Amino acid sequence: METRQAMPFPSPTNSGAATCDFFAAGPLPPCTLVIFGASGDLTGRKLVPALYDLFRNNSLPQPGAVVGCGRTGFGHHSFRDELRRASHLGADELQRWPEFAANLFYQPLVYDEPASYQSLARFLLQLDKERGIGGNMVFYLATPPELYPVVATMLGRSGLSRQENGEKGWRRIVVEKPFGHDLDSAVLLDRTLHQSFEESQIFRIDHYLAKETVQNILMFRFANALFEPLWSRSYIDYVGIVAAESLGVEHRAGFYENAGVLRDMFQNHLHQLLALTAMEPPPQFEAQMVQDEKSKCFRSLKPLAPGTLHENLILGQYQAGSRDGESLPGYRQEPGVDKDSVTPTFAMMRVFIDNWRWRGVPFYLVSGKRLADKITRIVVQFKQVPHSLFKHVVGGPLVGNRLVLGIHPQEKISLTFLAKSPGAAACLQPVTMEFQYRQQFRGPSLDAYAKVLLDCIRGDHMLFWRQDGVELSWAFLSPILRRCESCTEPALPLHPYEAGSWGPEAAHDWLRLVLDDEMTGTQL
Ligand code: BG6
Repeated sequence: METRQAMPFPSPTNSGAATCDFFAAGPLPPCTLVIFGASGDLTGRKLVPALYDLFRNNSLPQPGAVVGCGRTGFGHHSFRDELRRASHLGADELQRWPEFAANLFYQPLVYDEPASYQSLARFLLQLDKERGIGGNMVFYLATPPELYPVVATMLGRSGLSRQENGEKGWRRIVVEKPFGHDLDSAVLLDRTLHQSFEESQIFRIDHYLAKETVQNILMFRFANALFEPLWSRSYIDYVGIVAAESLGVEHRAGFYENAGVLRDMFQNHLHQLLALTAMEPPPQFEAQMVQDEKSKCFRSLKPLAPGTLHENLILGQYQAGSRDGESLPGYRQEPGVDKDSVTPTFAMMRVFIDNWRWRGVPFYLVSGKRLADKITRIVVQFKQVPHSLFKHVVGGPLVGNRLVLGIHPQEKISLTFLAKSPGAAACLQPVTMEFQYRQQFRGPSLDAYAKVLLDCIRGDHMLFWRQDGVELSWAFLSPILRRCESCTEPALPLHPYEAGSWGPEAAHDWLRLVLDDEMTGTQL
């Protein structure tokens, strides 16, 4: 007879977990990071604070350099001053800034001018030689999206994109979303990128993928035996994926007017959360295998048939409202927004994944701007037990278990189940078991942008989009967008909702499924 050795119950010291180096899995190769759009918002608000944080933790490549490029006529010193201002770091955080700033350089650039790229190439090669970097370069496109094809093409023509058998080091390009405006433009953008770069050189960023709690979804599902057997249509009633925002469009009307919530949040962050929640286990935790499973999941999205949009999609746009006594403008009053704009700032969509595991299970995807609160989470609602022997005790059906993967504001996992409440009578009430990241892991936290920069320098594609995924995601959304925007589905209204509320009334029945606690007692 087979005898099994008893396993000790895991404690933090014998858990069997590999020890994790917090900032880097092994030494980083030397590298120059070249940022296009270096005087822009993304560079100041996200990239520089992330780089500075890595620097303070001795986690930037050594040797290395950061070179900003843009139309503004900075010199190296004025660029360093500008970045210090734009990154809004507190005085107490700036102690090591001068040391960090010595690695920052600036090269002015006219984006469509070949001569500019020749000067850039000379500057980069000189810097590379002086610092002994060995030719490795990451080109980060932090420009408006219309410049992506221009910069990529120019990098190709100037020879900067070429890696020659590794002799002169590797070259990589980082592209931020949006990856096109629809399926056709995404294919075109990709074709242009591929004229200068190989697929292995291209890193398509989605910062949601680098959030710790989002990275944890696959670990949670596939490193624990407990949930996966229940993770299907047999036990799950519905899934909710929520990215509610309290901020409005801010100063991004130029982009948002042409994008709207479906392009801004669904064709990227929400689709990735959906794929991570619904995909099959890959054979190994390896980038291409994970991407393969995600693509299968996108391919299984059931198209919303013509004439059925109104049953599966609710769109809204915020109007003037208030929060905590502060009045908030409506979307059409925001600077740069057309006063007759029909751009949706809220969408709630019910989608189905047509495969063996998920057939018939609704996935509710919701995102909106200027809602009552910022909440990002995945809700997995389990079915009720098949037979309630407690019917006479509770006087009705028992509520199903609920698992919530909290991404914001609290990074947590909570599980709600029924328990007997104390006392002589047999009473049941829902109770919640909660795991809070911040309580369990008290050390430093790694910002999503720091993580993607590190992964790109290391050449790890795990947390980036692959082009087939981008195209499959657009293939699902583009026909929906076309029908919405050409108004060929007149039954699909754009519902107004007050800024600071929980979105349009028409969505409240569905919203209660995924935000019940938050909505109770607030705006409803
Ligand atoms: C961006 C969108 O990709 O994600 C923004 O363009 C949105 O409109 C933001 O506000 C939300 O990100 P996060 O990390 O704050 O949830």
